[in-house]
Amino acid sequence: MKLLDYVITKTNEYIENMPKSLRKRYGQFFTSKETALFMAGLFVVPSDKHSLKILDAGAGSGILTVALIEKLQTQNQISHIELVCYENDTNIITLLEDNLNWVSNHSNIDVDYEIRTENYITSQVFEYNNWLGANPTPEKFDLIIGNPPYMKIGKDAPEAKAMPDVCYGAPNLYFLFTAMGVFNLKSRLAHGSYNSRF
Ligand SMILES: C[S@@+](CC[C@H](N)C(=O)[O-])C[C@H]1O[C@@H](n2cnc3c(N)ncnc32)[C@H](O)[C@@H]1O
Repeated sequence: MKLLDYVITKTNEYIENMPKSLRKRYGQFFTSKETALFMAGLFVVPSDKHSLKILDAGAGSGILTVALIEKLQTQNQISHIELVCYENDTNIITLLEDNLNWVSNHSNIDVDYEIRTENYITSQVFEYNNWLGANPTPEKFDLIIGNPPYMKIGKDAPEAKAMPDVCYGAPNLYFLFTAMGVFNLKSRLAHGSYNSRF
């Protein structure tokens, strides 16, 4: 079975058993197979790269990450992936873990993955604002893929307060994920010609 088909099947089983009201609380909607393949297809990896550090912020069941791994393994260029998935809905962590475990056992790429259950935005407040106590070398990634939660939040929400430079009034969590993604992306100048048109 193809990697992405496996994850889609498992995700559909999860959707059948998890009430929409609970998923909505986290802005949890899953990307379709077609859209995931389209998004994964947008990445162009420099030809001298054989190892990649990849971030999926708000990973859900891992659909987007796995679409990207599936694309990369058909190209036979990348031999190792260091993957970080943020996901703070405890209901879906077991599924994400099972899916990533299955995929890493069935991929011809060596995939080391880490699931972070922290809030993607607030867990980086020190680094993002360069506050005293921040890690002086914040973590950066070669490729970032994601379908962030679409959710309006209050101007006093912890996520809004964590990113004051991009918040005017009540923001949408979607935008904050995108801005934090830019912060987490390796610089093109420092690392060659990445073309992640996401
Ligand atoms: C729109 S869903 C997308 C799921 C998956 N990436 C996909 O494309 O199918 C957004 C995901 O982000 C998670 N999420 C919401 N707020 C988050 C936060 N502050 N930190 C980490 N994950 C979060 C939700 O639980 C949900 O699984």
